[in-house]
Amino acid sequence: MKPVPAIVIGTGGMGRETLALLEARNRSGAQPPFEILGFLTNQQDQHGSQVDGHSVLGPEAVVADYPGARSICAIGDPRARIAVVQRLTQTGAAFLTAVHPAAVCHTQHEIGEGTIIAPGAVITVNVRIGKHVILNNNASISHDCVIEDFVTVAPCATVTGHVHLGYGAELGANCTILPRIRIGRGALVGAGAVVTRHVAPNTVVAGVPATVIREFDPDERL
Ligand SMILES: CC(C)(COP(=O)(O)OP(=O)(O)OC[C@H]1O[C@@H](n2cnc3c(N)ncnc32)[C@H](O)[C@@H]1OP(=O)(O)O)[C@@H](O)C(=O)NCCC(=O)NCCS
Repeated sequence: MKPVPAIVIGTGGMGRETLALLEARNRSGAQPPFEILGFLTNQQDQHGSQVDGHSVLGPEAVVADYPGARSICAIGDPRARIAVVQRLTQTGAAFLTAVHPAAVCHTQHEIGEGTIIAPGAVITVNVRIGKHVILNNNASISHDCVIEDFVTVAPCATVTGHVHLGYGAELGANCTILPRIRIGRGALVGAGAVVTRHVAPNTVVAGVPATVIREFDPDERL
């Protein structure tokens, strides 16, 4: 099949990992392959440089110079990712979905555009995954979960059955979400937390069992 020109937005850890993911997918022979054009970032000092062997083509707005390309927004923080995707969408950008060959999907899932699924992530059955979601390394998503748009799940998080992750929610590394829990829109779960109760929108919880440690400021609420 004809290669799809691909651009990674973001040169941070997530961006570099996503570029490596696209390369691994190409090596696996998955079709269609991606022709990796390089990175975009608004960090001016990186423009024209090389990051992990790929060119930094310019700021986000340069996406308009590549009308046939598909972009992937590889920024871990949901609030930052939402802002970038909104700007890119206004320029008419199209997005790709990146699933690492070593991710395990037990069945076919509905996976939204712009979503990144990293190596070792396991998604069992009847899981709905929205747009621009990040499921990072070794995240475990069990049966009957709903993951709304712009959710980030950090490495080794365990999401048990029938959990609902609201728009733009973020789960820290190695946390556990018990069955049927709802994580509210824009909420943040700390690393290592065990979440035993529903989490209200735009709150930050941490600990075992998780308790509220703060709320997002009004201008940060989703
Ligand atoms: C929970 C978290 C969001 C809090 O960040 P924050 O709002 O900046 O809070 P602070 O670092 O100021 O800490 C506030 C208090 O919570 C405690 N705390 C912070 N993170 C904690 C955690 N994960 N579990 C338990 N307690 C935690 C701090 O020790 C501090 O306690 P104190 O007031 O008694 O000193 C953050 O520490 C965290 O765990 N983020 C997830 C990181 C992650 O997994 N990223 C994935 C990258 S791939």
